[in-house]
Amino acid sequence: MITPFVEGWDFVQTLGEGAYGEVKLAVNQSTQEAVAVKILSLDKAQGAAENVRKEVCIHRMLNDEHIVRFYGSRKEGTIQYLFLEYMSGGELFDRIEPDEGMSPAQAHRYFGQLMGGVEYLHMKGVTHRDLKPENLLLNDNDNLKISDFGLATVFRHQGKERLLGKCCGTPPYVAPEVLKKQEYHAEPADVWSCGIILVAMLGGELPWDEPTYSCREFSDWLDKKMHLSPWKKIDPLPLALLRKILCESPPKRCTLVTMKKDRWFSGKMQTHRLPSSSPTSSGSFKRICSGNDLSPTSNIRRESPAPFSSSQPIPHLLHHDPQVPETTKESVEELIHGVSFSQPVHIDSMLLSSQIQSTPGSSQTPMQRFVKRMTRVFTNLKSDDAIKKLTAVLEKMGYNWKKTTARQVTITSLDRRKNQLIFKAHLHDMDDKVLIDFRLSKGDGLEFKRHFMKIKAKLAHITTKVPPLTPFV
Ligand code: ADE
Repeated sequence: MITPFVEGWDFVQTLGEGAYGEVKLAVNQSTQEAVAVKILSLDKAQGAAENVRKEVCIHRMLNDEHIVRFYGSRKEGTIQYLFLEYMSGGELFDRIEPDEGMSPAQAHRYFGQLMGGVEYLHMKGVTHRDLKPENLLLNDNDNLKISDFGLATVFRHQGKERLLGKCCGTPPYVAPEVLKKQEYHAEPADVWSCGIILVAMLGGELPWDEPTYSCREFSDWLDKKMHLSPWKKIDPLPLALLRKILCESPPKRCTLVTMKKDRWFSGKMQTHRLPSSSPTSSGSFKRICSGNDLSPTSNIRRESPAPFSSSQPIPHLLHHDPQVPETTKESVEELIHGVSFSQPVHIDSMLLSSQIQSTPGSSQTPMQRFVKRMTRVFTNLKSDDAIKKLTAVLEKMGYNWKKTTARQVTITSLDRRKNQLIFKAHLHDMDDKVLIDFRLSKGDGLEFKRHFMKIKAKLAHITTKVPPLTPFV
């Protein structure tokens, strides 16, 4: 993908990629404002232009503390750029340890924030239809926001609900009624996906490939075989909530309103968080879990409107440097209006950009965030040697691999459930070390992590310890 060029902005790294296109991080050279730029091809798939138009139309009407901000969009020929809030904490998915998950307190906090975002969406008459940990991003304060409205649709307009019929989403996360060839209600289907996300957070695995009777794990759940994994790893209180959420019958399923009466959901939990100046970091949980008023919007506290593009707040600042002038809407508007195309830029030169130096005590730089990803290793070898060793390990492990560029290897495999898994290893020079960064291209994120762990173990002879980083509590 060609990197866009905008005077005064550096496109420093790729934040994510998928079938849709990719997301890059753009940093303003003078103000250090950071914006995520989603780059979508309008001519790749049939109906792509209409889908992107819908994504833009829906995302731009959303304004909530648990939804990734939409700053604007721009079309250049067959490419559409979406300018989004930069979420420096990466994906929720990266906080889930395969087969272990995370602490119940962390899961409780993220789940409360997720339900806050979903409640807002449903109040606006919007359903996401692809809720999963890869689409839940974290900011500097470790607050969760919902992203990617590529499959979202309006299910309620002027108070009138419409039933949905399209079978879409990611199979392990979709509700059973979505797979049946009947019309279904939007809200319970999103709630189901949130239940699967909670299982992933508490157990570090997905309970089934898809919720159909031909899938044994799903039938075992319906038969209440709770001695099996992942259920046996989950504490009784959250498990009781999961029984209410992962209820096969949509009308009997727990709703956002009834969830607030659940003991685990509404209970107080010891959380381990970064100290935060943001008043919103725990507010969302309070807003849905406490108070007597359970109406969808009454106790929702919104972020205050900010001086940028209609009602959107200011973009994320990479460093809170007092020398840097207070960010203005103009620079981001320049980014939105000034995209033009340039030569592809090599990632290493982008990463060495002078704009991205660490400021002691400040929030992490993109580079630090980048190296904090769980799915990477460091080596002292030169990149040519590193790639030789890596491919030798992959070969020995029986992987189907291909060197796709001088610094990239694409690995194709099947996961435990015989689903296709494609991931890439990118090599980046970092001072005297080489970083090998593994990224999922297609398939189940948790399965990808399991493969990564095995490969990492086999690379132990060439890898070195990760440079010291600000610990994440
Ligand atoms: N990956 C996809 N969207 C992103 C965003 N808005 N911020 C950071 N990483 C992302």
